[in-house]
Amino acid sequence: MLYDISWCYDEFKQIGKDYGSAEEVDVYDSSHADFRDIRAEAESVLDRLELQPEDVVIDFGAGTGTFAIAAANRCAEVYAIDVSRTMLDHAREKAVEAGAANITFVHRGFLTYEHAGPPAAAIATTFALHHLPDFWKGIALQRLHAMLKPGGKLYLHDVVLPEQRPLEQIASFVQEQAAAGGDFLRDDAEGHFRDEFSTYDWIMEGLLERAGFRVEAVDYRGGVMGTYWCVRR
Ligand SMILES: C[S@@+](CC[C@H](N)C(=O)[O-])C[C@H]1O[C@@H](n2cnc3c(N)ncnc32)[C@H](O)[C@@H]1O
Repeated sequence: MLYDISWCYDEFKQIGKDYGSAEEVDVYDSSHADFRDIRAEAESVLDRLELQPEDVVIDFGAGTGTFAIAAANRCAEVYAIDVSRTMLDHAREKAVEAGAANITFVHRGFLTYEHAGPPAAAIATTFALHHLPDFWKGIALQRLHAMLKPGGKLYLHDVVLPEQRPLEQIASFVQEQAAAGGDFLRDDAEGHFRDEFSTYDWIMEGLLERAGFRVEAVDYRGGVMGTYWCVRR
């Protein structure tokens, strides 16, 4: 178990943005609404995952729980995993308000969550994997692969960098974020690239393939965003 290894990367230590802070968690949904519609995103991802009522779904880096709550309407059981207790408490409250009783919230992460339930039909993770350095991303993806049933699906969406002109793409993304949400989103974007671990798109593709996934579709948009639709080989 990685959790017991003293030299395992400490994924509970917040890097960059502090998602353990109540102030950050309280403004998360409203600040993200300036540049994305999280609920519509969740519904469209779920449409494409084509879940069955008996399916189990795991959401890594569940944050404020929007995806997990939407998934709970479409399948038997959802596991919402996050290293921030503050995020999990917030998500749990939202789930109660939404009447979603089939979500298990777990205070663990990519490297430390042990899945004891039935193998998952799908795993989703949005804007979370970049919290791990690349070597540990590889380990995390191997662990996710083992939690899926054969043919199970992985949806991964995160900030990734193109090989060509990455610095220009970052600069233009920072400007777009500032236009959408002023100083808050500018600082958020700058801090992302300064302090967190987003990697190159070709490294992400290699990590996925080597972890045992077939990458069925890739979508790169906005210069620094990558979406990967994968199947467990
Ligand atoms: C930017 S938020 C994304 C939340 C949500 N998935 C969304 O799309 O809005 C990143 C989340 O990942 C969590 N996180 C950071 N490192 C993690 C790890 N190693 N394992 C699981 N979650 C992690 C943070 O606590 C935070 O809640």
